[in-house]
Amino acid sequence: MEPGSGQGPGGGMGQGMGQGMGMGRGGGMAMGPGPGRFMPENFRMMGQSFHAAGQRFAEQARAMGESPDAAEVTALMGSLQEVTAVCRSCHDTFRLIIEDGS
Ligand code: HEC
Repeated sequence: MEPGSGQGPGGGMGQGMGQGMGMGRGGGMAMGPGPGRFMPENFRMMGQSFHAAGQRFAEQARAMGESPDAAEVTALMGSLQEVTAVCRSCHDTFRLIIEDGS
């Protein structure tokens, strides 16, 4: 990932989650230029766990090589479950409420 990506308008979840929440910015978690500074503390924490789980999953997937055996695939699915567990815990905690005034 390029430093500085995901900061522009419309960076969205895809790009913005990558850089915007300040992983690896050396302690600047709350101060980074990304959307993280507008997030409630526990939302940001869940975002961080999400990055960490996603990272583990990606590294494991990359390390598997061309023809993984069944045990490797099973282990990978375990990592994927860690990712989706964070999806779920965040969704259980946060909901958007649209107030359209009508
Ligand atoms: C850090 C918190 C967080 C994490 C982690 C997260 N989400 Fe979300 N997600 C949200 C929020 C907040 C919304 C908006 C919820 C709402 O509409 O009430 C949302 C909305 C969504 C929606 C749209 C739902 C709808 O009704 O339109 C989808 C689909 C979705 N998330 C999928 C995922 C998946 C898949 C993952 C994991 C791979 C994930 N999210 C991880 C916070 C998160």
